[in-house]
This record gives sequence, structure tokens and C-alpha cells, in this order.
Amino acid sequence: MSHSLTLPAAGSTTSTPALEIRGLGKSFPIGGLFTRSSVRALHGVDLTIGRGEIVALVGESGSGKSTLARCVARLEKPNSGAILIDGVDILKRDRFQASRAFRSQLQMVFQDPFGSLNPAHRIEHFLRRSLAIHGKSGGTEEETRRRLEDLMTTVGLQADMLNSYPHELSGGQRQRVAIARALAVEPQVILADEPTSMLDVSVRIGVLNLMRKLRDEQGISMLYITHDLASARYLADRTAVMFAGEVVEEGESLDLLANPAHPYTQLLVSAVPDPARAGSYDPVRRAELRQAVMASTTCAYDGDTNQACSAEEPVRHQVGDPANRHWVRCHLYRPWAGAGGHALAGEPAQPNVPPSNVQEKASA
Ligand SMILES: Nc1ncnc2c1ncn2[C@@H]1O[C@H](COP(=O)(O)OP(=O)(O)O)[C@@H](O)[C@H]1O
Ligand SMILES: [Mg+2]
Repeated sequence: MSHSLTLPAAGSTTSTPALEIRGLGKSFPIGGLFTRSSVRALHGVDLTIGRGEIVALVGESGSGKSTLARCVARLEKPNSGAILIDGVDILKRDRFQASRAFRSQLQMVFQDPFGSLNPAHRIEHFLRRSLAIHGKSGGTEEETRRRLEDLMTTVGLQADMLNSYPHELSGGQRQRVAIARALAVEPQVILADEPTSMLDVSVRIGVLNLMRKLRDEQGISMLYITHDLASARYLADRTAVMFAGEVVEEGESLDLLANPAHPYTQLLVSAVPDPARAGSYDPVRRAELRQAVMASTTCAYDGDTNQACSAEEPVRHQVGDPANRHWVRCHLYRPWAGAGGHALAGEPAQPNVPPSNVQEKASA
């Protein structure tokens, strides 16, 4: 592939993804001086977010979701890979030089809305500061005031709450303030790391609806990190499933969650409360899964100690209709068995299914 086709100049075409992550790797050193080793948090992650698209990144605690977001937000330095925003690799930019322009392209919203707001300041202070730092205050005080009020309205809060302190607001309201603060910068991409997981169930949906509104009305692209598959299905155009630092399956959310192909995705889906499938969640299987994470070498998920899985990296298989952009990376997946087709305990697996099967499947 030529560079002129894959890497157009920044912002030059609407087909340039808002965010493109290629081969991202990150390890953390652990242990003392003589017992030094490392935890592999990310292993060659590829992920693309189109303009005005919401992509959910789902996976259990410890799978590497936050590390991915923190690398993209430049709060961690990855060991390998590329992160392209608007076609430009941010890792190749000088940190200081890039920081202001970069932060106005990308903003992060964290899990804990209280932790991110200093309790000593009124809400107005946080938003005014964001506007000022990024040069969006406008010319006059009147204009700044109007922007502050607009931000509050956009996130569904009363403008007079600008005078409130964080502790006077509910969790949902505080998370809306955190989103308003991100919006003050007029970003193209928002990384939201479990933004609703600390909120009461009753207010979660409101925050999800706000995120959807920002995509629809302002074309903001989002990475929505969650361990809640139901909310991924509700909000995200596409969903990527992360397991032990690797994306093992990805597709349009509705298709992926209706036809999960990776055994790990199937397990996550089985844990989603669904009256039609009551009791299908298997805690023993879940415990086994955690064991698999700990023991993983090459393929993160080595199923039921299937040798083929740890011997070599699995290839990607397309799942179902190409229009769903659904693929899985798993030795146990059998394209000819249809979506969800995979070998389980006791069945012989088919390692190294040649990529030609993808074609067969596509034309079937
Ligand atoms: N600063 C750090 N130092 C050492 N290990 C870390 C650090 N941050 C994350 N990890 C490890 O990386 C892995 C992925 O963590 P994280 O990205 O927080 O996962 P998630 O957000 O999916 O719960 C975990 O094993 C975690 O212990
Ligand atoms: Mg996390």
C-alpha cells in the first residue's frame, strides 16, 4: 500500500479516521531490583474510530482498556505502535510542541466525576479555565459568559449551576460538568473511560444519551470504554472486545453482540442480564477465564488449554456479512460453522485456518 493512499495529510479528506491506533504495545515494569519483570498491558492493538463514530471498548477489569486510553491521551508512553489523530502520528510529535494543539483535538472523561473536580472551586471555575487554556474564551466577558451558559445547556444543566460547588451536585450532574469541560475545548475525539460506572443506574442512561447527542449534533468521535455490554450495544456504532491486552473481536455492535464468535465474547455476552437467557452466566467458566488470562503467552485466550492457541498468533477471520465489519481472531473459530462457530473442550480445533476461508465465508 502506498503512503499517499493510506496517510493523507492532516484533515485533508473526510475519509481519514478521527483516530487510528496501530500495533500499540505497552508493558509495565514490576518487581524489585533483582526480581524485575514486566506486565504486558497492551499487545499489538489496532483500533480505528471514524469521524462521528462511537466505538465501545469492552472487556473485564485488567484487560488493558484504561492503559489504551491513557496511551492515546499521552498520559502513558507506549513501547511500540502508532497513534494517528487526523492522520498525524502524535507519538512522533514533540510533546511540548504538540500538547496544546493535541489537547484541543482529544479530551478524556474519567470514571470518577468527583475526583476530577477540585471541591474548593465553583463549577464556573473549571469551565472558564478550560476555555481560557485553549483560547476559546471569546473576546469579551459577555462572550465568555455566553459560552459558559451554552456549555451548561449543551450538557443538560441549568446555567445557574455555574455557581455551585461540586459537592452540591449529584454524580450524574458532576459527570455532565466533566463532559462540559471536555467540550469547552471543542475536541474531535472524546475518550470516555467508564464514564457511567460510578453513577446510579437511574442516571446512567441520561449520560449515555448526552454522549449520543454530542455525536449526532456535533459529529464528535468517541471511544467509550466500559465493561457493560448492554450500554455498548445501546450507544456504540461498533464494539471492540479486549482480552488480556489484545482486541480479539470487533464488529458493528448489534451484530457482534447478537453473534459473538470469540469464546471470550460469548462469555461476556452470557453475563449480560437478559430475561430470555436467564441463568446462562457461568461463574465457573468465568474463573477459568481469569486463569487463562494469567497464563496467556501468545494468544490471550487459550480456551481449554488447547495447544494450538499458545503456539502461534491467531489470524483474523471475517464473521458473517462483510457489511457488519465483524471479525474475530481465534484459533478455535471455524468459519464454516457460521457465526458463533467455534470448537469447545474436547473438539479438535483447526489451527491456522487459511485466510481463503474468509473469502469462502463471505461469498457463502
Ligand atoms: N502503572 C501501572 N503499573 C503497573 N501495572 C499497571 C499499571 N497500569 C496498569 N497496569 C496493569 O496493566 C493491566 C491493564 O490494566 P488497565 O489498563 O487498568 O485495565 P482495565 O482498564 O481494562 O481494567 C493490568 O494488569 C494492570 O495491573
Ligand atoms: Mg480501567
